[in-house]
Amino acid sequence: MRVVVLPTSAEVGEAAAAEIAAVVTERPDAVLGLATGDSPLGAYAALGRRVERDGLDLSRARGFALDEYVGLDPSDPQSYNAVIDRTVTTPLRMRAGAVRVPAGAAADLDAAADAYERAIEESGVDIQILGIGANGHIGFNEPGSAFTTRTRVVALSERTRLDNARFFATPSDVPTHALTQGLATIMRARRIVLVALGERKAEAVRAAVEGRPSAACPASVLQDHPDALLVVDEAAASRIAVSSSAVNRFPRLLARR
Ligand code: GLP
Repeated sequence: MRVVVLPTSAEVGEAAAAEIAAVVTERPDAVLGLATGDSPLGAYAALGRRVERDGLDLSRARGFALDEYVGLDPSDPQSYNAVIDRTVTTPLRMRAGAVRVPAGAAADLDAAADAYERAIEESGVDIQILGIGANGHIGFNEPGSAFTTRTRVVALSERTRLDNARFFATPSDVPTHALTQGLATIMRARRIVLVALGERKAEAVRAAVEGRPSAACPASVLQDHPDALLVVDEAAASRIAVSSSAVNRFPRLLARR
């Protein structure tokens, strides 16, 4: 796991976008793993500028979303299906339907989870973008999730439901369950780029980077990934020890592999 600390959220977004752009340039039909939430929005916006300004072409790229709420129709504006459409597929000019999202409104959720896991296994993911929950969750893999987990139905913690209540009319409207890629599913991606912004994520980032890998902080699983990069702003990095060897603070040039 490598950690790059940048002064502002704008630079974090640019850096994460550069990672994705490099993969798509090398392989136009790349498979992207896509996260929702606020953290990756700057990266998606920066990628959108590369599409508009530099002619970056994602028309052959495909993607898999990390997770979806249970019980929301895909047309519901707060469903991750709709969020991915608004923030990724449409602005990045990907083909309609190029990004698959777990079927959170399916009658048989276990079957939907299995089908999703199989589809990811068959296609592989070239680069997975992640945010991180304040409690260290990735996707909707809450603390306590085993590192061996695959796509499945999970119950959301109260903390996560409260954190996500800002998107809903009332806190009780936040779904109680979700379908999420598991930690083992996420770990199969060839490259992983996790974005974390703000003081609210500082403790989760510290535990992910410096803690012993454990289900208590799901993001700590990334310590065992051969090509995981955390791109974080100063506030999110504020609890990582300055001496930590994995950490590159304010690199003049982002070292490419
Ligand atoms: C949600 C999503 C995660 C996301 C997390 C953090 O729970 N399921 O994929 O990483 O929120 O969200 P934010 O980036 O808005 O802080």
